[in-house]
Amino acid sequence: MNKKVALVTGGTRGIGKAIAEKFAQNGYDLVLNYARKSTNAEETKRAIESRYGVTVKIVKANIGELEQMNHLFDTTEETFGRLDVFINNAASGVQRPVMDIQEKHWDWTQDINAKAYLFAAQRAAKLMNKTGGGHIVALSSLGAVRALPNYVVVGVSKAAVEAITRYLAVELAPMKITVNTVSGGAVDTDALKHFPNREELLEQAAKRNPAGRIVEPEDLAEAVYFLCTPQAFMIRGQTITVDGGLSLLAE
Ligand SMILES: NC(=O)c1ccc[n+]([C@@H]2O[C@H](COP(=O)([O-])OP(=O)(O)OC[C@H]3O[C@@H](n4cnc5c(N)ncnc54)[C@H](OP(=O)(O)O)[C@@H]3O)[C@@H](O)[C@H]2O)c1
Repeated sequence: MNKKVALVTGGTRGIGKAIAEKFAQNGYDLVLNYARKSTNAEETKRAIESRYGVTVKIVKANIGELEQMNHLFDTTEETFGRLDVFINNAASGVQRPVMDIQEKHWDWTQDINAKAYLFAAQRAAKLMNKTGGGHIVALSSLGAVRALPNYVVVGVSKAAVEAITRYLAVELAPMKITVNTVSGGAVDTDALKHFPNREELLEQAAKRNPAGRIVEPEDLAEAVYFLCTPQAFMIRGQTITVDGGLSLLAE
């Protein structure tokens, strides 16, 4: 019961998995949530447990459904009795131009990316309060502040994530909880398979990046972990962009 616990939504592959590994390296037990891919989740659990000697609980739950999201937090409490870090990483979304967006695309995307974050943060804060505080970090992307092709509903959901972070940072501060967002440039995960312009996006992201390469999942994981350390105590409600400087370019 004394070991610290981190919960990562969508923590079984991609960026979430890199974040999970970073916390495991530092001795945290983990709750890793996923939506559909059970085999993948079990492989990640086995790999992290054997490599880092921590306990990993995997929980299947579509976080866009509040009942399932609540089940995720109930399981966390039953399994470990505490929560020190909550990483709002899972995301989904429909990639279409403005004129092709239907109501169901909007609802699906906002429910998973934005609504789940607010209500999950409520549950996380209640659990963290039991041990005197903790850290929350959410993942965002450059489409929150820029107009990317086919990205309108996801971009709006990420703008909401960044705004929710600012409110949480202020209102959860008295509970000794820090809250921030990490945003990133394009990272080559399965998520990019849904982008109609994937090849072009990755090529441009690498070629034009002032840092000379594409962003890797571990680059985001390092920033997320730092925000959950005492050294980041005075950083509150910020969106830290990890993109090698790509978004600074005018064109
Ligand atoms: N990739 C990029 O270029 C990039 C750049 C900047 C920021 N980000 C952000 O980083 C985060 C992770 O992205 P990624 O590229 O690593 O994604 P990914 O490879 O597509 O992985 C998504 C993860 O989220 C889970 N997930 C999806 N929908 C869910 C739901 N409704 N409920 C619970 N879990 C769900 C998936 O579970 P299953 O395995 O069961 O499907 C999987 O574990 C996202 O917030 C994304 O917006 C990504």
